[in-house]
Amino acid sequence: MFHPFNIFNETRGGLNDFKRLNDKRNSLSRLLRRRDNGGLFPSFSGARPMSYAQMPNDLEAFWMPFTANRQFKAAPRLLVSAKDMHYVAADGHKVMDGAAGLWCVNAGHGRQKIVEAVQKQVAELDFAPTFQMGHPKAFEAASRVAALLPGDLDRIFFANSGSEAVDTALKIALAYHRARGEGSRTRLIGRERGYHGVGFGGISVGGIVNNRKFFGGLLTGVDHLPHTHNLEKNAYTKGEPEWGAHLADDLERIVALHDASTIAAVIVEPVAGSTGVLVPPKGYLKRLREICDKYGILLIFDEVITGFGRLGSAFASEHFGVLPDMVTMAKGLTNGVIPMAAVGVREPVFQAFMQGPENAMELFHGYTYSGHPIASAAAIATLDLYREEGLFERAASLAPYFEEAAHALKGLPHVIDIRNIGLVAGIELESRPGKVGARAYESLVKCFEQGLLIRTTGDIIALSPPLIIEKNQIDELFGILSKVLRDID
Ligand SMILES: Cc1ncc(COP(=O)(O)O)c(C=O)c1O
Repeated sequence: MFHPFNIFNETRGGLNDFKRLNDKRNSLSRLLRRRDNGGLFPSFSGARPMSYAQMPNDLEAFWMPFTANRQFKAAPRLLVSAKDMHYVAADGHKVMDGAAGLWCVNAGHGRQKIVEAVQKQVAELDFAPTFQMGHPKAFEAASRVAALLPGDLDRIFFANSGSEAVDTALKIALAYHRARGEGSRTRLIGRERGYHGVGFGGISVGGIVNNRKFFGGLLTGVDHLPHTHNLEKNAYTKGEPEWGAHLADDLERIVALHDASTIAAVIVEPVAGSTGVLVPPKGYLKRLREICDKYGILLIFDEVITGFGRLGSAFASEHFGVLPDMVTMAKGLTNGVIPMAAVGVREPVFQAFMQGPENAMELFHGYTYSGHPIASAAAIATLDLYREEGLFERAASLAPYFEEAAHALKGLPHVIDIRNIGLVAGIELESRPGKVGARAYESLVKCFEQGLLIRTTGDIIALSPPLIIEKNQIDELFGILSKVLRDID
């Protein structure tokens, strides 16, 4: 008979299995103890706890991504529903979303327009191939994205995740030079501390050591620019730091070392997010553009988190007035509702592929779900919502208030830097000796208990709320965080 907590429905024998089942039961009972402990979390009227039938009966099978699995499963934090600015946790307590999920839910949660578009689409056309076939929504979604991108970034290649978008852009860069008879341009240049997802391409050009060191030799022929983080020069900067534009000149050194004829592309995040919010120094991105132009190197902006209004413009390229040759995007493209990613490509790059016989495939690349009908429908509805509600403009107008609220944390215990741009803030904490990340993780746990979701990386707290946030919610967000920072040691 089905029982939601029947963890003994397996019939394997032996001591090890017994131990495994017992462990499962223990982690479940811990979960239940938290659920039943009405005093552990504040309760909110209207927030409904999970019913027994919804509770997972086993936390073991899901190997969780970028998570300390054993630590999490010993004291799980489960989110069971969401609306607008808030999640509801399994025990019923409300949690304000200070991270837009994972930098993706820019229009807030449970938006009716997107829900309805997805429901309608799944009933009408659940799947259609886009290899040698097509369906209208993918073309419409591509046109809409192209219209939103600056300049002649008019051609859109669809993928399903930021990591795939990055791999796609890197492959387009290599194939582009080859199509133009410059096949010797195979080097890819990333940046220290860069995050470009977890594919082999992305971790090769990326610069986060833990994402690289376990996975062998990675792509060959990759070099890295220096990162732009410098607390001595730039601590507590509001917006773009004054110091550091010259760091872009390191590209000249790399060109001198390898020769321009070997370099295909440079990829950077305009604002580095996952490494802990690094805002580009004034003039830095323009300088990179100039050097790339000088040597015929393609410039790729990875806008997976900066796209769709995070900085108060549709894309960071527009915000900084620098036009790259390709833009990668994901997350906010569908408000996080359905996985979808894309690469925006400038017209001359696209045209370089359109040269051979018309019956020849121009790019041997694609994903089964490139331009998936449901993702396309979600993207169209999301872009409608952004426009109808003026959410990018809203982010721009809230940015100064958000900036002041973030910088008001200066002087709290352990805080060594605060930096911000648009609706993003990074709060860097001093690490405990020999325990990098412990202090920020403790803040994350305590914030969650007190009703706030934050994102942490090392000892840096990143805040990137949905763009629908209200001023009083900004106050509440920083209020909870400041209380937590006072409480931790
Ligand atoms: C700049 C950037 N690029 C790529 C990615 C990878 O995206 P995904 O996790 O969808 O593969 C991320 C994810 O946070 C990102 O921030």
